[in-house]
Amino acid sequence: MTATSMDQLVSLCKRRGFIFQSNEIYGGLQGIYDYGPLGTELKNNLKRSWWNSMVYERDDIEGIDSSILTNPSVLKHSGHEDTFSDPLVDCKNCKSRLREDHITENKCPDCGSEDLTEPRPFNLMFKTNVGPIEDGSNFAYLRPETAQQIFTNFKNVMDSTPHHLPFGIAQLGKAFRNEITPRNFIFRVREFEQMELEFFVKPGEDEKWHKIWTDLRLKWWEDQGLDKKSIELFNVPQEELAHYSKATVDIMYKFPHGLEELEGIASRTDFDLGSHSKDQSDLNISAKVQENTKSNAKLAIQDQNTKEWFVPYVIEPSAGVERGFLAILNEAYSVEDLGEGKERTVLALKPHLSPIKAAVIPLKRNNEELVEKAKLLKNELQKQGLGRVLLENSGNIGKSYRRHDEIGTPMCVTVDFQSLEDGTVTIRDRDTMEQTRLNLDQTSEHFKQVINT
Ligand code: GAP
Repeated sequence: MTATSMDQLVSLCKRRGFIFQSNEIYGGLQGIYDYGPLGTELKNNLKRSWWNSMVYERDDIEGIDSSILTNPSVLKHSGHEDTFSDPLVDCKNCKSRLREDHITENKCPDCGSEDLTEPRPFNLMFKTNVGPIEDGSNFAYLRPETAQQIFTNFKNVMDSTPHHLPFGIAQLGKAFRNEITPRNFIFRVREFEQMELEFFVKPGEDEKWHKIWTDLRLKWWEDQGLDKKSIELFNVPQEELAHYSKATVDIMYKFPHGLEELEGIASRTDFDLGSHSKDQSDLNISAKVQENTKSNAKLAIQDQNTKEWFVPYVIEPSAGVERGFLAILNEAYSVEDLGEGKERTVLALKPHLSPIKAAVIPLKRNNEELVEKAKLLKNELQKQGLGRVLLENSGNIGKSYRRHDEIGTPMCVTVDFQSLEDGTVTIRDRDTMEQTRLNLDQTSEHFKQVINT
């Protein structure tokens, strides 16, 4: 099988309604995308799967949903105002703005000129005014990561839930970065979603938990359908670590454009909680934090035995929804040779991620009896609460099967004239293309089995 190209995925996404260029009718907006009917379903399924594994399947993690607009003090004390930048270079010839580490052989990739400026730091955070006065004094940032409001809510969550260490806070939502060169479709964009966990542990237990979370996250990506062979772990070298990190392991995936980061698992020590604490004098913080903040919080825990206060350490698995989406599409997509010059495109998604779980297809679109029976079955399957079930009343079975192969629907059910006589339907399996007949009253049970595999 040949490797999938980015062009094939982009084309599928547009053709079938997974992803559209945002603001397309006005020429688009670079590095920003919209999700269509199927993309929205797939994205929601991926996020739900993450939330289930983090919050519902464990008893030591709580979920929150915090604001996107962020008080600048938070991002001052987190270190983002001073250090969250990429090296920017200008091409003096064609005026392109470039990221230094994306330039090869000291040449502008757009025009080939070597007449480039020296690199200078470019802060990636978006700023916006808050309130009606636009003199620059009342501004907020759009959060560049979901993590910071987890730290600033640490005490709220600790005080309102019955947890002891180790325990975690999970958050899923939008983040914004003014990337110098967004590229590779949805891989590097300016508006994206993150799935982040901050897992708080006792100082000294951080290395053990770093390893545990790396293993858990690898296993989770495999459960979403990524092949072990497409994944590599990368220990980020000391000189490349983010300002808050003591050690980071990146989960790298073989995207169509190359091996790149899918998720980072960072050991953030006591840097963040320490940086946001008001009085740091009695906290014995190990990381190099900013001077005392204007926050009114003590983001620390009192040891029940010694009565001493300490700041928990943090392990942070942080994944991008868009990168997960792209990796999953890439892994699932293939063009199968059916012989005699025929081929089919199939998206072999794990059923829990499929945008449409089942399509119910009446053999003839204008036959009321068939359509009525198909509608009843659709409603029955929909009631299972397993995701979207579609009544596909196109009147062309071959075309419907091809469409559902291409969008990853695991199961098609055809209601035909025999169904009216003996109460059976045809079940078609996406992956094997096998067709079997089943009694209508067994269809729901079969559907549950298919989706829960
Ligand atoms: N809180 C830690 C943090 O934000 P990061 O490595 O900068 O760490 C975490 O980002 C994840 O967010 C990355 O592994 C990637 O999946 C995703 N991500 C980061 N920047 C992105 C961008 N511009 N476009 C799409 N996804 C991005």
